[in-house]
Amino acid sequence: MALMMKAPQAARTAPTPGAGTLLEVQDLAVEFHARRGIVKAVDGVSFTLEAGERLAIVGESGSGKSVMSMSLLQLVAHPGRIVRGSAMLNGKDLLALQGKALRDVRGADVTMVFQDPMTALNPVLRVADQVMAPLRRHLGLGPEEARRRAVESLTRVGIPDAERNLDAYPHELSGGMRQRVLIAMAVACEPRLLIADEPTTALDVTIQAQIVELLRGISDQLGTAVMFVTHDMGLVARFAHRVAVMYAGRIVEVGPVREIFANPRHPYTRGLLASIPAIDGEKPERLLQIDGTPPDLAALPAGCAFAARCPVAVGHCTVERPPLARLEPNHSAACWRASATTAPEVIHA
Ligand SMILES: Nc1ncnc2c1ncn2[C@@H]1O[C@H](COP(=O)(O)OP(=O)(O)OP(=O)(O)O)[C@@H](O)[C@H]1O
Ligand SMILES: [Mg+2]
Repeated sequence: MALMMKAPQAARTAPTPGAGTLLEVQDLAVEFHARRGIVKAVDGVSFTLEAGERLAIVGESGSGKSVMSMSLLQLVAHPGRIVRGSAMLNGKDLLALQGKALRDVRGADVTMVFQDPMTALNPVLRVADQVMAPLRRHLGLGPEEARRRAVESLTRVGIPDAERNLDAYPHELSGGMRQRVLIAMAVACEPRLLIADEPTTALDVTIQAQIVELLRGISDQLGTAVMFVTHDMGLVARFAHRVAVMYAGRIVEVGPVREIFANPRHPYTRGLLASIPAIDGEKPERLLQIDGTPPDLAALPAGCAFAARCPVAVGHCTVERPPLARLEPNHSAACWRASATTAPEVIHA
């Protein structure tokens, strides 16, 4: 277990105290009506995000990270359906917005960056048209002012020679540059919240680190809150203030990054942390090192969804589902054994 809990290196200061709650998600549930039954992809998720705060969402493949993120902008495609919950942003429920009100929020107040920058950019439009579009639509800027702001945006995301690159087509840029263009589009209108769903997975390791640094810098500079979906616990340590761990459509643990790394309380979180490679600089593997497989979301077991794979489960765990309970002021876990189990050996680097 040595090195398993290596302390995160970068100092992370919490966002300005008193900045206030930006987003409050309550009891969000999303279902897919599939042939094999009702798939509960997101099953009662609640969390808050402070203004300017960076929250990492981690969890195995299929745990509901993308569906949860996309549902905040009502982007879950048919047959997915938001069946419960609210997501209040500045007094507006994102889940209830319709028509123009929804379009106004998307791309202005809340924006999203996806995994694959090639499919997210329109191949037949020049970079300029794509970066200028949100500026024209949401801020009502004329062509000249929009272009000036687009140059500013490209420069902000570290694209050299912004004037020339604005006139390029997406295929003329490298993968890393395309992801920077998407980020430029996403932050052009200075949103309050940026949702980034595995924005670096398609990129090589050095570029990944640069993109994460870039997002962190922009978040600091503009005060933008970021929800960052990732498989990579190493990136979590460098980037986020807080981390929420998802399992089978629920948040099973949430807390400050330092606290989660030093004192994980859910056995699933411990498993995820154990999958961080011990050797510095080695590319972390996907988090699939916990024995067993996640449950079928169309036939969730009674009790805790993790019980069948859990090394410390007791009889009660298969009978009653544990609620997400507060263990310390900022740290919650959904585990009947959270208090009973001792923390693993922690070795501070
Ligand atoms: N179109 C669909 N039809 C039926 N079920 C779906 C559909 N899309 C997603 N799901 C279900 O929703 C669950 C959550 O999917 P989601 O894409 O949010 O997982 P994820 O945590 O983002 O995984 P990954 O890390 O692989 O991106 C999946 O387990 C899947 O069963
Ligand atoms: Mg996903």
